[in-house]
Amino acid sequence: MTPETETQAGAADGQVSGRQSLSVVDNRTGRSYEIPIEDGTIRAIALRDIKVDEDDFGLMSYDPAYLNTASCRSAITFIDGDKGILEYRGYPIEQLAEHSTYLEVAYLLVHGELPTRDQLAEWCHEITIHTFVHENVKEFMGGFRHDAHPMGMLLGSVGALSTFYPDANDIQDAENRAMQTIRLIAKMPTLAAFAFRHSNGQPYVYPDNDLRYPGNFLNMLYKMTELKYEPDPRLERALDILFILHADHEQNCSTSAVRSVGSSQVDPYSAVAAGIAALYGPLHGGANEAVLRMLKRIERTENIPDFVAGVKDGKERLMGFGHRVYKNYDPRAKIIKKATDDVFEATGAKNPLLDIALELEKIALEDEYFVERKLYPNVDFYSGLIYEALGMPVAMFPVMFAIPRTSGWIAQWLEMVQDSEQKIARPRQVYTGARELDYVPVDQR
Ligand code: CMC
Repeated sequence: MTPETETQAGAADGQVSGRQSLSVVDNRTGRSYEIPIEDGTIRAIALRDIKVDEDDFGLMSYDPAYLNTASCRSAITFIDGDKGILEYRGYPIEQLAEHSTYLEVAYLLVHGELPTRDQLAEWCHEITIHTFVHENVKEFMGGFRHDAHPMGMLLGSVGALSTFYPDANDIQDAENRAMQTIRLIAKMPTLAAFAFRHSNGQPYVYPDNDLRYPGNFLNMLYKMTELKYEPDPRLERALDILFILHADHEQNCSTSAVRSVGSSQVDPYSAVAAGIAALYGPLHGGANEAVLRMLKRIERTENIPDFVAGVKDGKERLMGFGHRVYKNYDPRAKIIKKATDDVFEATGAKNPLLDIALELEKIALEDEYFVERKLYPNVDFYSGLIYEALGMPVAMFPVMFAIPRTSGWIAQWLEMVQDSEQKIARPRQVYTGARELDYVPVDQR
């Protein structure tokens, strides 16, 4: 950043000068500075040159919850929240959900481009032959209490995988990183299904490598005494679509956790366990559970007007509506709505909650309150209904999110590890506590 004279800064009001910089006057000193603008951002470190005197630390930006801070450069996921656009590596989510499979999308996220037929076959083969976990994993999972939350079990067991693969901490080695990438994507459904079976007091089911990724997951969840589990292709496809939709969502809370923890150069199992921990929180992975509870509370379509009036009075929130980034229909919600129909058709179970959801959406989308505030259904409005139709207890909902998000976390981790600009994440603080107190012995306090 260069100090400048004030006249250099002067573009007439509202005129675009074409100069890619920001002129700042520090009114404490009267000094002016020119800060380069690159990709619509300024570098926060440039502010450090703005000082009142030589001893001053320099100016910092204060941004709790990173509302307006880009923490990395990324070529993985693009979101335009105002227009309702979501793209993975440039491909619109709608096209991927219609034509692709989760494993192909995982390849796209991790490798940056769509695979050729041979690359896809090789990738699917590698993932498939790594679905088994060490027998000891079964044993320590068996040590969890009978009512342990499946997300807690997933979190613990993914962290524990680092002890099974101690070489995973060689993160500078590309081949090693590729191996752990395969293992993480392959084993996540196995661990998730073991957690589910543990909660139900049922024996764990080994992976069936004849089945595709979502079909094998259904097998590990639901196989009982039959010799061979045959997944319903409609349910398998619906699950594949849900997995595609949840695979990545740029720098959200759990992805930031993976990047932040991974920046210490810890192994990827530990970094991904941090992502699972973040996703465990109700503000991140738990909104679809809140939607189900809300729909159950509304009980009947006749009660919707009263419920909506309560929302408009600020007594409660319409769960599954609104989004920090999307100020338009969440593109994932549209696709899920369609998948919901397919799942209900396959399971044959008519869920009255779906009627309430459809009517609620219709009423809200026509209501001034929601229109003015740009509140549209988000991904969670319908996903809980699908999970419930698949026989999932609500405790499994965040687990269902964690399985596909693993490919996004690992793609973001790989990008971070290879980004020469990244260092260990270490935010600054604005210290607000006491200073230079004298220690008081305990009996004098
Ligand atoms: N129901 C009723 N009013 C709402 C809602 C809602 N769901 N969401 C926002 N508003 C109102 C809010 O009261 C405020 O009104 P006013 O201007 O009169 O004060 C206005 O809309 C702006 O809201 P905000 O809280 O500033 O918006 P935000 O960007 O901070 O919040 C949100 C985003 C997702 C936390 C919020 O919309 C919400 O709580 N939604 C319900 C929970 C939910 O569905 N969460 C899942 C998000 S998608 C998951 C994912 O992508 O990972």
